[in-house]
Amino acid sequence: MNVYIENIAAHEGQEVTIRGWLHNRRSSGKIHFLTVRDGTGFIQAVMSKAGVSPETFQQADHLSQETSLVLTGTARADSRAPGGFELDVKSLEVVAPAHEYPLTPKEHGVDYLMDRRHLWIRTERQHAVLRVRHEVVNAIRDFFNSRGFILADTPIFTPSACEGTTTLFPVQYFDDTTAYLTQSGQLYNEANAMALGRVYCFGPTFRAEKSKTRRHLTEFWMVEPEMAYATLDDVMTLGEELVSYVVGRALERRARELNVLQRDTAKLERVRPPFPRVSYDEAARILKDKGLPFEWGGDLGGTDETVLSEQFDRPVAVYGYPSAIKAFYMKPDPNRPDVSLSVDVLAPEGYGEIIGGGQRIDDYDLLLQRIKEHNLPQEAFEWYLDLRRYGSVPHAGFGMGVERVVSWICGLEHVRETIPYPRMLYRLYP
Ligand code: 4AD
Ligand code: MG
Repeated sequence: MNVYIENIAAHEGQEVTIRGWLHNRRSSGKIHFLTVRDGTGFIQAVMSKAGVSPETFQQADHLSQETSLVLTGTARADSRAPGGFELDVKSLEVVAPAHEYPLTPKEHGVDYLMDRRHLWIRTERQHAVLRVRHEVVNAIRDFFNSRGFILADTPIFTPSACEGTTTLFPVQYFDDTTAYLTQSGQLYNEANAMALGRVYCFGPTFRAEKSKTRRHLTEFWMVEPEMAYATLDDVMTLGEELVSYVVGRALERRARELNVLQRDTAKLERVRPPFPRVSYDEAARILKDKGLPFEWGGDLGGTDETVLSEQFDRPVAVYGYPSAIKAFYMKPDPNRPDVSLSVDVLAPEGYGEIIGGGQRIDDYDLLLQRIKEHNLPQEAFEWYLDLRRYGSVPHAGFGMGVERVVSWICGLEHVRETIPYPRMLYRLYP
């Protein structure tokens, strides 16, 4: 019977067939130990000279790494085995050879690995990271779907900027039009929220950011909820519930992968609501007290975010950023217009901003004024202004970047490992 490695525990003592690839091999004269992977996990297959035909035993002695093969044998429980099981091999069928596989178990440099990303994802660590990503994506969907949010997808080709004109990727759109790859679905999300109440979009977004940091990709996946009749406070509550739920799901369902990644899960266990909420003013004071050269009015840099988040044992929500450093659509605090009803959620352990959002301007005149101040082409925003012409209501939302969250949950050094094929400033291959 064909069995996937992750399900092998249900077949103890039975004869099973595993279809996969050879990950590693060692031999001790009378026994071959073959580590095999099938996409669902890794298992050690034990082939003893006495247990198979002489030809099979001989053939196994020459198998190279990543040879595709089908193994049949008995599933045997072994408490010392990483997955709790080993396979006592009875027969082997080679499907296709692998000649001089370029990734050996030895350490390779990052550039070497990135050039071979299509093969790098076969390793146990990368495999674990991508499975955690899968869990994070599903947890996000389950979270919103079970709370009455409607998935309403927003376009990827867009006529205008959402998050500033300096990070747009232009695309030739037929003969005489320039389209831009979306930076965020937010503006359309706002229209969708006015139609459907509570919505979310979830898809790839693009930033032509010339940032070469461990947190930046040029193509990343973002989930963006938007709610009609909602305020900054509602968004902070939703954000902490979402983050806690997603982390909880990873802990519950991907413990094995987090173990492969040697993640200190005690730090993740503490991620529960409520998150501390700190105003930008307070944040500026904390940073000054810590001796950082931070001045009120500036954006938080990577180091600032790290130092701030170190003050807390769980993610922290920083709200009320100066209006001048935030996007054109941010609603000013009515009591103090120089600050906006904005929030960023910073992950612990130096992982930085994972959520950015806030309450939107719902007043027509002010929105038009901001569009002009930001030198945005008014014609392209007429439809967006319509939302303030026809039954405008207070509304709010945010965006959470999948790769930043996965990077933090997995405890990685760089977001490039959290997506199968990362796109970065100097990386468009493979
Ligand atoms: O803070 P950002 O730019 O917010 C927006 O785009 C809003 N329009 C979202 C909204 O309110 N609907 O981006 C939101 C999140 C960040 O907190 C971060 O997690 C992620 O998207 N992000 C990136 N992730 C990887 N690489 C990049 N270059 C990223 N830029 C933003
Ligand atoms: Mg942001």
